[in-house]
Amino acid sequence: MAEQLIIETSADKAARYKTLVPQIEALTAGEPDVVANLSNIAAALRQTMNFFWVGFYIVKQNASPAGSQELVLGPFQGPIACTRIAFGKGVCGACWKEKKVMLVPNVDEFPGHIACSSDSKSEIVLPAFKNGEVALVLDVDSDQLNDFDATDELYLSQVMKLIEGFI
Ligand code: SME
Repeated sequence: MAEQLIIETSADKAARYKTLVPQIEALTAGEPDVVANLSNIAAALRQTMNFFWVGFYIVKQNASPAGSQELVLGPFQGPIACTRIAFGKGVCGACWKEKKVMLVPNVDEFPGHIACSSDSKSEIVLPAFKNGEVALVLDVDSDQLNDFDATDELYLSQVMKLIEGFI
């Protein structure tokens, strides 16, 4: 495992992601522990991309009612956040339900958006799949409007593919 992250400091977002993705691969290679890997991925994304909030919500079984599931807060970097999100609720719950990337330029215009922080203005949420079902989502929040685009989706999707290799 790499001891230190090499951070491309240029303003070019794609260049920063391009330097980061292979390092995330190296950082998680040979480490089977999911919490350890997700923790380092959240930290690496935060350090490199300077996101306001970045972290994971993991699909977990509820004790009751039997068979029900919820998204539960996993490793993250940033201000404290809501712990549990129901299926279909908020941007994260919608990503889980619709099984697709949610790119939200203005969270105030997303019906049912869950405001963990009033500073959050735009958001991207991506799913990772296990056996065809969403196993977890990556949520990235910005304190700027319209802060995410196809470049974020492209490279964060590559990160999700790496995650699918160890979950
Ligand atoms: N805004 C998210 C909730 C999670 S926090 O932003 C960290 C949502 O609507 O699902």
